[in-house]
Amino acid sequence: MRSSMALSKSLLLLLLGFLCCSSTEAHVEFGFYNDTCPHAEAIVLHEMTRIIADDPTLAGSLLRMQFQDCFVRGCDASILLDSSNNNVAEKDAIPNKSLRGFDVIDRVKAKLEEACPGIVSCADIIAMAARDSVYLANGPYFPIQTGRRDGNKSEASDLMANLPPPTANITELKAFFLQKNLTVKDLVVLSGAHTIGFSHCSSFSQRLYNFSGKGDTDPSLDMEYAEKLKRKCKPHDHDDMRTLVKMDPKSPRRFDLCYYRLVSEGKGLFASDEALLHDPETRAYVERQAMASSAEEFFNDFGSSMVIMGKIGVLTHQKGEIRKKCAYVN
Ligand code: HEM
Repeated sequence: MRSSMALSKSLLLLLLGFLCCSSTEAHVEFGFYNDTCPHAEAIVLHEMTRIIADDPTLAGSLLRMQFQDCFVRGCDASILLDSSNNNVAEKDAIPNKSLRGFDVIDRVKAKLEEACPGIVSCADIIAMAARDSVYLANGPYFPIQTGRRDGNKSEASDLMANLPPPTANITELKAFFLQKNLTVKDLVVLSGAHTIGFSHCSSFSQRLYNFSGKGDTDPSLDMEYAEKLKRKCKPHDHDDMRTLVKMDPKSPRRFDLCYYRLVSEGKGLFASDEALLHDPETRAYVERQAMASSAEEFFNDFGSSMVIMGKIGVLTHQKGEIRKKCAYVN
């Protein structure tokens, strides 16, 4: 009797131990730096306020950086690592060539290293910079979890299978998001990030000049808008890395509902934006936000989906490291 009670007690302890350890696996939390670097989030916001005041166009780039970091190998700052003699890193993959803001992350990291050396990860800096970019572009401020650690691998070849291209149709987009455990709602909500920022012509010129391989224009693109875009982006200029097009022509620096209005009018810049009209759930969301008189629902949804995206494949506890310099492993 006593031995069977002892056995059930030890089984219970084992189970509790298992539950406790599995719940601490890959887990980020609100206020992770409260004890170790209490001013971390304030330091980032202070620096970001100065950075965005000097160059408001960086807000879009830093928001995009978090998406492209999290979708490839998880939110582990693999996007920041430099290539080496025998490895081409994510940073040098073609879709990432247009990313800006690596120096911003280095600047914020330097400030954090001054205040609390070796404590704040580059992966968390990307997440905080993305959150603050939205806020500083007049979008919502939402609390985010921290405690991510930095990875030690970055391979350009990982992009293709993980990052949706701007030509993706709705089936492909849903599959890319599902692969990261993100829902159809996350897809339509996070796509709303395209309310700020700029794109290079190469990301959508196929829609203007060679949509179905016959030199035609995508018929779903508003005709007047297509003509405007053609005046900016010349045919066969695929390598043009200078011309930038506003993704939301009226308010490219303001985080608002305009993206959904544009998409509903056939003025979404990428095929992947237009694709949101081809699924009942995403279409309903686009149309509801396009008509909304307040951004409240979108802002709340955006904060929630960013928190979810920010948990993809995180390294925590004993995994990963806190890089001293974001471009190199220690
Ligand atoms: C749904 C699939 C998505 C696709 C196919 C996509 C694709 C792209 C492309 C091709 C660009 C332009 C790159 C260039 O030519 O410079 C871009 C820009 C941008 N993307 Fe996305 N994106 C997607 C989702 C997201 C998500 C989830 C976010 C963030 C939450 C995001 C944020 C941005 C921002 C802010 C920009 C502007 C960047 C700048 O101003 O430099 N995108 N995206």
